[in-house]
Amino acid sequence: MSENGIGESRVRKTAAGGSAARDVLRRRANPLNKIGIGLIGAGDRGKRHIAEALATRDCQLCAVCDIYTKRLDWAVETVKKSNPNVRGYRDYRKLLEDKDVDAIIVATPDHWHSRMTIDGAYAGKDVYVQKCLTRTVEEAKAIVKAVKETKCVLQLGHTRRSQPVYHRMREIYGSGILGPVSLVNISICRNSARGAWEWAIDEDATPEMINWNEFLGSAPGRPFDPDRYFRWRKYWDYGTGISGDLLSHEWDAINFVMGLGIPSTCIASGGIYYWKEKREVPDVFNAVFDYPDRRLAVVWNCTFSNSASGVNLATMIYGKHATIEYGRGGDLEVYVEPKGKTDFSAVPGLEKEAGQPGERKEPFYRTSRSDKLYVTSHFQDFLDCVRSRARTRCNEDEAFQEAVTAIMSVQAYKERRMVKWDPASQKIV
Ligand SMILES: NC(=O)c1ccc[n+]([C@@H]2O[C@H](COP(=O)([O-])OP(=O)(O)OC[C@H]3O[C@@H](n4cnc5c(N)ncnc54)[C@H](O)[C@@H]3O)[C@@H](O)[C@H]2O)c1
Repeated sequence: MSENGIGESRVRKTAAGGSAARDVLRRRANPLNKIGIGLIGAGDRGKRHIAEALATRDCQLCAVCDIYTKRLDWAVETVKKSNPNVRGYRDYRKLLEDKDVDAIIVATPDHWHSRMTIDGAYAGKDVYVQKCLTRTVEEAKAIVKAVKETKCVLQLGHTRRSQPVYHRMREIYGSGILGPVSLVNISICRNSARGAWEWAIDEDATPEMINWNEFLGSAPGRPFDPDRYFRWRKYWDYGTGISGDLLSHEWDAINFVMGLGIPSTCIASGGIYYWKEKREVPDVFNAVFDYPDRRLAVVWNCTFSNSASGVNLATMIYGKHATIEYGRGGDLEVYVEPKGKTDFSAVPGLEKEAGQPGERKEPFYRTSRSDKLYVTSHFQDFLDCVRSRARTRCNEDEAFQEAVTAIMSVQAYKERRMVKWDPASQKIV
């Protein structure tokens, strides 16, 4: 191991090579040096990453990349106010050659995640990559291999892992007071064009402004199509539909709370029922994941044509003695079963606020202002790990579980059958 606790293999595998790579790693470990960030993809999420990075003293945005001239220009102008030396790139490969970039943020559509993450890792960069990790199991495996070979620090953008309310949920679940849990039920509902991914299309979006071939990347070739560029979530070539865009958030949160791992089986259903124009992926989607070893099932459903009066997210964890409910109004609640026997003193602060058996009581955990900082906290966790070389809150192994689970549900939906995960062959069968 090197003096920074970083394995020699990482140093050897980095593109920078030899002592240059060692200097980069030393610089990252030095708290006086800001971590140099390169952002790839300055779209909707990328804008938020820019705001977050600019507000974080620990890092400096030194490069941005996009294939849409208007967005690239906007990003460079925005970052320039804090860093006049920021570089703008139209090709992410050039950004990876930038020696000031220690770590990259990948905020492109999902079909680019694996290529950019792998290239970034072998270029010696650490990687914060947006969810869903990938569109195929093979890509997910290739990412894990690259990350482990290069000893890259990887954070997947599942920010719920940095949200205090999920830490509290994990504490309550971990205490055992729920008794055996046999069912987890999660629903997300939306009722708007934007919620259904019918995003606005810029009038000035032309092939001259957008490098269409670089958008397509490894996706099948086709003529320039603004609907596909701005509303890529509706097409299988670029994402995994509701599975990777929404389900992955909630499933990953439950994986964090309960440590479930990849399910044994999955069945899925749904269809294109309301938003019928120019759409390949379902707008109503249901998936059931079974964990026979844990004796429980996770049920997940989503519609884009009802938001339950704005109550758009609900998670229920059903135990023999008590239930956790989260989402309705943003508070976390625990209800005791009518004949539930449980010892609430096992969880500090819970005893006085939980209801008596059969009662619905006031929420015992109210989400607070600090909860809203969770996105920043997730990014800060990444920066901390870039320096310490510790594992992030959503590392490559957890990211792999997220990807496989989402992909299982897509395959079950497309093939209209129950799919299984075979741990021996590491394949969906
Ligand atoms: N964690 C979250 O809560 C969260 C929220 C929203 C989006 N996301 C994720 O962020 C990612 C981006 O989503 P979005 O809504 O910002 O999409 P978007 O379409 O608004 O932005 C994507 C950007 O990537 C750029 N791009 C595409 N191909 C590129 C290439 N080869 N090189 C450089 N730039 C390229 C596009 O030009 C565009 O500006 C997705 O993976 C999405 O799932 C995560």
